[in-house]
Amino acid sequence: MIRINRDRLWDSLMELARIGAYQDAATGLTGVKRLSLTDEDACARRQVIAWMTEAGLKVRVDRIGNVCGRRAGTDDALPCVLVGSHIDTVATAGAFDGTLGVLGGIEVVRAFNEHDILTTRPIEVGFFTEEEGVRFGTDMLGSAVTAGRLALDYAHKLTDDDGKTVAGELARTGFDGSEPERRPVPFAYLECHIEQGPILASAGVDVGIVTGVQSISWQRLLLRGAAAHAGTTPIGHRQDAGLAAAAVIMEIRRMCESGEFGELRGTVGKLSFEPGQTNVIPAAATLTIDLRVPDDAAMTAAESHLAGFVAGLPGSYGVTGSLERMAKTSVVRFSPDVQALLAETASELGLPYVTAMSGAGHDAQEIAAICPAAMIFVAGENGGISHTPREYSNPTACGNGVDLLANAVLRLAGPAGNFGDS
Ligand code: GLV
Ligand code: MN
Ligand code: MN
Repeated sequence: MIRINRDRLWDSLMELARIGAYQDAATGLTGVKRLSLTDEDACARRQVIAWMTEAGLKVRVDRIGNVCGRRAGTDDALPCVLVGSHIDTVATAGAFDGTLGVLGGIEVVRAFNEHDILTTRPIEVGFFTEEEGVRFGTDMLGSAVTAGRLALDYAHKLTDDDGKTVAGELARTGFDGSEPERRPVPFAYLECHIEQGPILASAGVDVGIVTGVQSISWQRLLLRGAAAHAGTTPIGHRQDAGLAAAAVIMEIRRMCESGEFGELRGTVGKLSFEPGQTNVIPAAATLTIDLRVPDDAAMTAAESHLAGFVAGLPGSYGVTGSLERMAKTSVVRFSPDVQALLAETASELGLPYVTAMSGAGHDAQEIAAICPAAMIFVAGENGGISHTPREYSNPTACGNGVDLLANAVLRLAGPAGNFGDS
């Protein structure tokens, strides 16, 4: 079994976290803000490409800005083993979300180089554009385009809150590559990612094998009422878009607690009022709705219930509502064969593990549409909290996760015939 260099992995994680670092007032901690295709993201991209190049990888950039570095196999015509994740972050991130999979992949290559390990299949390490969806409104954007679920043109035309397009920002940052976005189909895909939840830590294990990803639905809801004076307009005469927004938020919570929609989780993470003044009843409210549930039928039922509730708002509040789709993914189940290979490899490494479904979205769920894919989870401290600077996975857990990644890559890319070759 090969072991990666844990200090070197940790140093890379900490160094990358300096790009986009900020002082987070809410936690008093240093966080990371590196939204996709911003200057900070471009700077981090250049750093990661430099590390890829130093590790001997041949780097290419595709038309949606996904970056991939390739290590040749002894039979280089065979489909590669692809390892990847993302380096863009939410605006209040820690150092590990996404970066562990990318820098872990580079560390696997460094370790193979050091131990003179050649593989039959080529190995590629990549990162995908706008996994978080925070800037342009659609998560797993780069991987979804690569997998063919979303069209390149659709992705290029998406805009941020300032009206800047993905295409424009790709060009501005120099990441408007020329490689085709529908990349050659890999032999298999592996992604090592922090768990972002409490399951592994409660079980007392550092690593997990991910069975799949739950369904995710993102919608934007625009509510329109009427502005009026806060002091003079009788309560019964109001068309208060703010009140309607509050009703929607409460209904989502009720839906989650009701049990009617399985294990539904619902979040309104972004809300704004117009005209947004203390003494003016809101004429409009815009909110985002994030629904997640590990069951497609439950998601269909939840979405249609929500649409019905919105349709009833004119009657209850004198406010109209229109829902706009931002993103939607169905439940994805990862390859049982790759999961079994991970389980066997973990056992041989002496790493206890649990299996878990992912609550978060991941590039692996997109790539799973084109090749066998699976994920390794790494435990987090503070209850596995993530999307805040409190996110923290210790060096041992990260090292164990990437050891598992390295040995699984070796098995997948090793002598032809050891995994599904004919
Ligand atoms: C990605 O981080 C997600 O929102 O699940
Ligand atoms: Mn992530
Ligand atoms: Mn994330």
